[in-house]
Parts: sequence; structure tokens; C-alpha cells
Amino acid sequence: MSKSIIIANWKMNPASYKKAENLVSDLLADITKNKKTKIVLCPPLLWLNGLSRKYKKSVSFGAQNFFWADTGAFTGEVSAQMLKSSGAEYVIVGHSERKIYLGEKDDMINKKLKSALKAGLTAILCVGERERGEDDEIPSIVEDQLKKALGGVNKNQLKKIIIAYEPVWAISTMSGSKPDTPDNAFRSSIFIRKVLADLYGRKAAGEVKIIYGGSVNSGNITAFIKEGKMDGGLVGGASLDHSEFIKIVELAGN
Ligand code: PGA
Repeated sequence: MSKSIIIANWKMNPASYKKAENLVSDLLADITKNKKTKIVLCPPLLWLNGLSRKYKKSVSFGAQNFFWADTGAFTGEVSAQMLKSSGAEYVIVGHSERKIYLGEKDDMINKKLKSALKAGLTAILCVGERERGEDDEIPSIVEDQLKKALGGVNKNQLKKIIIAYEPVWAISTMSGSKPDTPDNAFRSSIFIRKVLADLYGRKAAGEVKIIYGGSVNSGNITAFIKEGKMDGGLVGGASLDHSEFIKIVELAGN
């Protein structure tokens, strides 16, 4: 079995560069034993360059967002290539918070995905429904999101994509949120692999890492990996508490 991957999505936290630096150094000081879990930290963009220069020998970095063009008149934006030259190896694409608060749509996500791949980044493509129906089935919107995001992406490029299944209702900051069950997560991963198999064939689909996101913590990560057969987790809130995050990383490697 390949290594689990745990990706920390710090979102717009913590409040200062100093605190961000402390978070990374506390984490690295305590995590020397970890060999079994791949760790990726996605700090706020402004601090990516500084943190990656200082710590990239010890941990991998990713970004949370970017714009799809390479250069040009796009005030306030940065490109995938700029992320890469600032030390990012990974980038999150299509996070639900960007859809909700910034109006990001499927066609933008598709352009971003292709731009990230062109720049040589590994894309963490987020999919997930806003609501789960009473039948508890994985809604077809997830298939739709995947197919639209992956339009024009070839089989070879699929190797540089991680799918993060994040049901929006399970994200810790949504009101009334609760984590999905490992059983549902398992069904989701089968569903997602089937969609990928239809697009790229079973072999290529079988090699894609599918991770779970939505209120991941040290109490549920083992179940998501063992019972849910997830390849890891995209961790928001719990990644800001270094001792909790370390536990998640260690449990993911067991
Ligand atoms: P959460 O966030 O772990 O705080 O639920 C996950 C995410 O939104 O990526």
C-alpha cells in the first residue's frame, strides 16, 4: 500500500507570519519519527515563499488558490507558475469555500486544474455535495463536478491529481457540521473511482489517490483510512493545532 497523505489546509490562518512559522517549527520538532505519512502544508499565500524557503527540506508545501492565466492584467492574482517558483509543489483546486464566497464555477476550476498541471504542480481537486439526500446516496453532482473539472485532462496528467472528497456539510465551519461516516466515505471513493474509470480506464483510475476532508481529527482519521479506504485526509481546523495535527499524521501512518 502506498503512503497516506495528510494535507493541512490552514485557510486564512494563523493571524501573523510569526505564528505560522511557530506552527511549522513546533510541528517539525515533534514529528521527527514520522516516515510513513506524506505531509503537505498549505499556508496563506503571502507566507508560502518564506515558509518554503525555510522549511522545504523537511516538509512539502502547497497553495490554496491561484489564477489560471500565466501572466497578464489580472489584478490581485498569482499564477500557478508563480506558486511553483515560490516553493509550492501542490495546490488546492475547487475548494467549496471558494465556490461559496468567491463564486468559483466549474469552468474556472477546469481552467485552474489544467494550469496547475501545466506548471508541474500536483493538484488537489476538491469535489463534494452541499447536501446529502435522505437516501444517503452520493449525489450525481459529484460526478458532474469531476467530469467538468477534468475536461481536457489526459490519462498521463491524472497521475498529478489527488481527489479530495469533501462533502460541504461535513466541513467543520459549516453550521451543524458533522464528519461523514467511514462507510459513506468508502462508498464515495468507489463512486469517484468508477467515474474516473469511465473517463480513463480502470488501471489509471485505480492509481489515483482519493482523500477525505470534512471535520477530520485524531478521533476519526483511522476509521477513514482503514474502513473508508481513503488514501489520507485534507485537514482544515485540526491542522492549526500542532499536537492534534501530529496525532493525525501518526495515526494515518499506522
Ligand atoms: P475542516 O476543513 O477540517 O475544518 O472541516 C476541511 C476543509 O475545508 O478543507
